[in-house]
Amino acid sequence: MMMSRSGARLTNSMMATMGPHLFSSATTTPRILSTASYLQNGNQVASPARNMSSWTRKRSTLALGEKEEEGGKQPVTASAGGDAKNDKEIVSYWGVSPSRISKEDGTDWKWNCFRPWETYQADMSIDLKKHHAPITFMDKMAYWTVKSLRLPTDIFFQRRFGCRAMMLETVAAVPGMVGGMLLHCKSLRRFEHSGGWIKALLEEAENERMHLMTFMEVAKPKWYERALVFAVQGVFFNAYFLGYMISPKFAHRMVGYLEEEAIHSYTEFLKELDKGNIDNVPAPAIAIDYWRLPANSTLRDVVMVVRADEAHHRDVNHFASDIHYQGRELRESPAPLGYH
Ligand SMILES: [Fe+2]
Ligand SMILES: [Fe+2]
Repeated sequence: MMMSRSGARLTNSMMATMGPHLFSSATTTPRILSTASYLQNGNQVASPARNMSSWTRKRSTLALGEKEEEGGKQPVTASAGGDAKNDKEIVSYWGVSPSRISKEDGTDWKWNCFRPWETYQADMSIDLKKHHAPITFMDKMAYWTVKSLRLPTDIFFQRRFGCRAMMLETVAAVPGMVGGMLLHCKSLRRFEHSGGWIKALLEEAENERMHLMTFMEVAKPKWYERALVFAVQGVFFNAYFLGYMISPKFAHRMVGYLEEEAIHSYTEFLKELDKGNIDNVPAPAIAIDYWRLPANSTLRDVVMVVRADEAHHRDVNHFASDIHYQGRELRESPAPLGYH
């Protein structure tokens, strides 16, 4: 009992001395002191250390309570995700509230990962057959590197194109992020503009990731496929990072050829859909919103727009490599921002 009383006295003295210094906000101090007096007068007085830690734990809630009292408002809330089922509201003491966005039909915009102004209609008029003929030694090396990767991919996936697309998108989203990141660091190091190439490459990475978010709605990865992605990402990220540092000319050329292969894969995917070997299921909702597709679109429509995206990535990367071939830096030529 003696210990408890002396502990309470110590806590009270600590609160009175430290409270105003620790928390300069005028609105929090009275609450701190009232908490301290509760600790002294209440029956549940425990050890000073315990009281201190329990008081510290409660502090954030106290501050939030005061905010409610002061403003007479409900706590600011943030949505946890786009899925209405799991749409748990998270209380934000910091006042960071998400903007509520509506679709044209007045319903809520459900995607937090992209906004209506980031959606687009794919340019389907793009030439899918364009090919960069490998003439220099470096181009041939890039070309045959990609071709040699095709063989194990064909063996592994056979004609399971949905699964193949999903898995390859986990790789395809890496180069843009690595290239964008390295250009970002270069821009900081050299105190110079990037010519928009950082953003263009990050846009590509984001677009590829959206392909993945779409295909994972129609092909669920098995545990060993997830494990494979883990391993491949570990190797590919580092290899591409090193490759880009040594020769961005080679790195972009290789991605250009990877995109040519992607166009081929999606063309095969379409053939299988047309033959009826793959069910032409309704398009995932995320794809309908992202590519502004009609509500009754199908998987075939999605594959068509994704293939058009790949053709744009092919052009951007071959173009980037060509800039380097001319002995120039990317920043010297304005980046094709928003090129879809
Ligand atoms: Fe893709
Ligand atoms: Fe691509």
